[in-house]
This record gives sequence, structure tokens and C-alpha cells, in this order.
Amino acid sequence: MIKPVKVAVVGVGNNISALVQGIALHRATGSLVGIHTPVLDGLGVGDIDFVAAFAISPEKIGTDLTEAIFLPPNNFPRLTSELPRTGVAVRRGLTDASEVERVAGEIAGAEVVLYAAPSGRQETARAYAEAALQAGAAFINTTSDAVARDRQMLDRFAAAGLPLLGDDLTSQFGTSVVHHALLRLMEERGLTLISSYQVNLGGTEDFRNLVENRNTKLQSKLNALATDSSAADKVQVAPLGYLPHLNSHKVAHINIEAQAWGQTSVSLDVKLKVHDPSGAAGVTIDLIRMAANGLRERRAGYLAEAAPLLKSPPGSSV
Ligand SMILES: NC(=O)c1ccc[n+]([C@@H]2O[C@H](COP(=O)([O-])OP(=O)(O)OC[C@H]3O[C@@H](n4cnc5c(N)ncnc54)[C@H](O)[C@@H]3O)[C@@H](O)[C@H]2O)c1
Repeated sequence: MIKPVKVAVVGVGNNISALVQGIALHRATGSLVGIHTPVLDGLGVGDIDFVAAFAISPEKIGTDLTEAIFLPPNNFPRLTSELPRTGVAVRRGLTDASEVERVAGEIAGAEVVLYAAPSGRQETARAYAEAALQAGAAFINTTSDAVARDRQMLDRFAAAGLPLLGDDLTSQFGTSVVHHALLRLMEERGLTLISSYQVNLGGTEDFRNLVENRNTKLQSKLNALATDSSAADKVQVAPLGYLPHLNSHKVAHINIEAQAWGQTSVSLDVKLKVHDPSGAAGVTIDLIRMAANGLRERRAGYLAEAAPLLKSPPGSSV
């Protein structure tokens, strides 16, 4: 029987809540709703064991992972009344390189470190990647900070025989993937793009952070939309909007203006409403299993099969 993947999570926010609860729901009911890959190279959705968790807020530190995921400002809903305790007490995280050794020691034994802290904290992201390197674990960067796009870091993971997957995940059915598909369809059908934009509104802590701290997210969203270079300056991403009453919903508007045969106009408007953390968890579950399989098969550095799940893989703009 295949061994479950030992995972350490960094940041006990909404995405980890969606991931932990979704795995528990699948284990309890066997439901495959919303699951892209039920079995990935022998690893099922339930074959994940959380072995360590790191947070920064004092309320979460010391509590079981299954309790910490419901503490504010997390606002992803409760999916199941039966959530077995993981037995993993949340530990104090780090914010800079001074505590890398301590955290590396606490990660020891994990095969995969899942980095899901807020985007826009480059130094923190690199410090956790260093800790994963020291602990001999694969690293997944779900944030828009540059870790896999840092050539030196990628080379060091490759030399250590460890997978490094990043940067920034592409939600399972989020604005990027829908917008990209519509632009590609229009191009395939021979239309000429005139202009296009997307607007994203949300009520999570992630949205609050992304609105208040200008960071690498906007460029990462543009990376995810890249079709061909002639279209790049015609596609715009509006600054994100934080509306607390949306809770864990994200509401997105996508507009495309184009021209068809005889220079006649075509206008397309789409509204998308999703639970944003579910979009992340539905992709993270595959990234974890890809990273674990890579580690077990001694395939190191960036793994090409992860590309469809990432907005900003190595080589894209920072
Ligand atoms: N669809 C999506 O939700 C999506 C898509 C792509 C990328 N992302 C990225 O995934 C990441 C996680 O998203 P989220 O919605 O769970 O965010 P979140 O804000 O709910 O969770 C992040 C958690 O990390 C904690 N934290 C802050 N500093 C820390 C540190 N130094 N060490 C440990 N923990 C720390 C915060 O207190 C918070 O609980 C974000 O960077 C987000 O931009 C999300």
C-alpha cells in the first residue's frame, strides 16, 4: 500500500481550511465532487497526512489544526460536522531568516512544505524555502512572491534533489482560467481582440491583504493571461476590491471587446461567483501529490506537469 504524503503547512488561513476540510469530507463520504484527479500516480485525495503547521497569530498557535482553521479572520464555511482532530498543534512561524534553523527542525520528517502565507512577503517566503531545503522537503509556493522564479533558489533545490513548485497557483475555476480560455477561444475562431479586462471582488483576508499591500499579484495575474505578445497590452486587470460582506466568495467580471467578419463588433461579459479558497484547494491537492511523487522518484527542481496549475512558473515575469 502506498504511504500517505507527510505535509507541513505554512499559514493556517482560508486555503488550508478548504484543503483540510475537503480531504476530511472526501475520506468520510468518498465524494468525488469537484475533484480533478481522484488518483495521481497512485496517491488518492485522502492520502495526505498533515504533520506540522505554522501560523503567526497567537490565537492559532497551540491549537489543533482542525480548530485553528475556523478562527477569525478565516471565513471559509464549515463543510462537515465530522472533522477528526489531526493531532497537529499549530506552531509559531517565522518572519525572517533568523529562525530558519528552528523551523527546519520542526519541519523534519515532512516530505512537502506547502507555503500558504499572505502574498507580498518576499523575505518570509524565502526563509521558509530555506527551512524546507535544510529539512530535505519539497516546497510548494502558492503565493505570488518569487521563489521558483528565483534562479538561484531553483538551482539549489535541484542540486539538493528536491522539487520546487511555484509560483502562485491558478485557481481550479477562477478568473484567470476562465478569462484565458475565452481569449483563446476568440483567437481560435479568428476574431480580432480590441480590448479586455477583469475585475475581482472578494471578502477574504487574502483580498484585504492584496488590496492593502501592493505586491507581485497583479503581474502574476497578467502572467496567467499571456496569450500572444500582441494581445498583452490590450488585456487589463483592474485593482482588486475588498468587500467584507462577500465572505469567502469571489465575484469576478470579465469583459472582452472584439471584431468579427466585416469589422463588426462582438462584446462578451461574464460574471463568475465562486468560493475562492475552494479554487485554491482543488489545485493544491494535485500540487502536493505531484511534489511528493517527484520527491519519491528523485525528480528535482521544477516539475513540468505542474505548469497548468501555476500562474507564474520559472521564467515568467516578476
Ligand atoms: N484562490 C485563492 O484563494 C488563491 C489563488 C492563488 C494564490 N493564493 C495565495 O495563497 C495564499 C493563501 O491564501 P489564503 O486565502 O489562505 O490567505 P489567508 O490570508 O487566509 O491565510 C494566510 C495565513 O498566513 C498567516 N501568516 C502570516 N504570516 C505568516 C508567517 N510569517 N508564518 C506563518 N503564517 C503566516 C496569516 O496569519 C493567515 O492566517 C495567499 O498568498 C494567496 O494570495 C490564493
